[in-house]
Amino acid sequence: MKQILELLGAETAKAFEKAGYEAELGKVTVSNRPDLCEYQCNGAMAGAKKYKKAPLMIAEEVCAVLAENDIFSQAEAVRPGFINLKVDPAFLAEYLRGMAEDENLSVQKTDSPKTIIIDYGGANVAKPLHVGHLRSAVIGESVKRILRFMGHKTIGDVHLGDWGLQMGLIITEVRHRQPELPYFDPSFEGSYPEKAPFTISELEEIYPFASGRSKEDPAYKEEAMQATYELQHGNRGYLALWNHILDVSIRDLKKNYGNLNVEFDLWKKESDAQPYIPAMVDRLKKEGYAHLDQGALVVDVKEDTDTKEVPPCMILKSDGSSLYNTTDLATLVMRRELYDPDQVIYVVDKRQELYFTQVFRCARKTGIVKEDTQLDFLGFGTMNGRDGKPFKTREGGVMRLENLIREINEEMYSKIMENHEADPEEARKTAKIVALSAIKYGDLSNQASKDYIFDVDKFTSFEGNTGPYILYTIVRIKSIISRFTAAGGDMSGCRMLPAAGDAEKALMLELTGFAAAAAQACSELAPHKICAYIYSLANAFNRFYHETRILTEENEEQKQSWMALLDLTRRVLETSIDLLGFEAPEKM
Ligand code: ARG
Repeated sequence: MKQILELLGAETAKAFEKAGYEAELGKVTVSNRPDLCEYQCNGAMAGAKKYKKAPLMIAEEVCAVLAENDIFSQAEAVRPGFINLKVDPAFLAEYLRGMAEDENLSVQKTDSPKTIIIDYGGANVAKPLHVGHLRSAVIGESVKRILRFMGHKTIGDVHLGDWGLQMGLIITEVRHRQPELPYFDPSFEGSYPEKAPFTISELEEIYPFASGRSKEDPAYKEEAMQATYELQHGNRGYLALWNHILDVSIRDLKKNYGNLNVEFDLWKKESDAQPYIPAMVDRLKKEGYAHLDQGALVVDVKEDTDTKEVPPCMILKSDGSSLYNTTDLATLVMRRELYDPDQVIYVVDKRQELYFTQVFRCARKTGIVKEDTQLDFLGFGTMNGRDGKPFKTREGGVMRLENLIREINEEMYSKIMENHEADPEEARKTAKIVALSAIKYGDLSNQASKDYIFDVDKFTSFEGNTGPYILYTIVRIKSIISRFTAAGGDMSGCRMLPAAGDAEKALMLELTGFAAAAAQACSELAPHKICAYIYSLANAFNRFYHETRILTEENEEQKQSWMALLDLTRRVLETSIDLLGFEAPEKM
């Protein structure tokens, strides 16, 4: 089904034509003066020059034509030449009935579906998830769901960091603590133990410890670098130990991402790209793209139009070892070979923007990606505390994601218990669901590229532009519907009638905007557009709710019409929060 703006626009276009002007002028937009009208058309202003006629005259002629149709209840020409429009309530109800019948709620899926890889999450193996990883997970998950909803084939890849110095640090520290383990015995030829020599909590203690020590102890750091080198060059014992680290850590990561409602299609790691490096490097050398610069192998990527310096993309260090860049380029080689994507989107901290500029240019210039493969960097800002500085624990340390989530869960739990008597176990479950909405909506309602302040009090509030407010609205609707059905009402027989009042019409108009909001969120990779849309939808609903005695309405047809309106509102809200990556509880 077409978006309402297209239907209205087609009507005004016809009117322009009938009045003797070109149809293109008939574009309709949502009014920016809702106090005056619902929609507007500025075509007469645009046509004035071409037709050498006062815009108001054109507008009047068009309005005379529009007066005859039954889609608009009002078409008014106002100075200096705007056309103010109101839509006919019967047409609006008809449109919404069509929307309710459509399983996609009138959203037009793309007619050119692409295969899109979304590179997000980006956790590092054996390092605890911290709040920085939260943004990538939350934004990436939502972007993926939006693209999928619009009909694209999406592949979400967590792209774990498992190949850097952190692995050497852990191996070194384990060797210091348990030197007797077979992993460190070069003459050991048997098979290594199946059980890891550490638990996840030990592992999480080992990494920060080793990292701290390496900063103070150069010999220790040297050892860790050597261990990293040996791991990357096939040391059998280290590889076995590394596999344990992966197992233990990935099991834990899966649990943590699962708690966030974040699901990856691929659990690929930096190490998976390593086999693609030698051939890639050979080709770059052979085809003359790469050259030596002070011993390192680089590809120039600066362009004449650059206003800032873009340094060459380094492919190999002077000692021949590979880097973060090398891995990202090889990952693109791998992705092309395995999935042949039309587009790859990286959801990464915006401080890595220059880095990705280098990688993208290098990939394009050297033909690592096909000419028409789109590469996008979706950089996000920093999540700050209320003091405006990067989010920290009360003690000033790095806030672990698990602790942050626990804190919000507690906060939500006490709010729910405060609100009404609830069964503690039930309240715990609900708190978890609502807390996730607080965290995700708090993040997603901001434009991704901006820094934002993580304000626990604000985000967990049941009022204002928050996740809990949206959920509260959904729960309210569900409870009205269930009271209706409990009293013998039949939802399937409910048919929507034209709006009886202003608040009802305003709600109906908001509902028609879903398709446009979803399309915009998709084309701009902008979940905050969905948030803005559902916030005003929820407001419109609550206004209608406060003005209307729904369940006590005596006219049965009217009551049923409202039930149909409620149900459509619920579906749009629930579909939207699913696009944002959270869900609503049954009760709250
Ligand atoms: N692991 C990286 C980090 O923690 C993020 C990875 C982003 N994705 C990529 N393809 N480089 O900073």
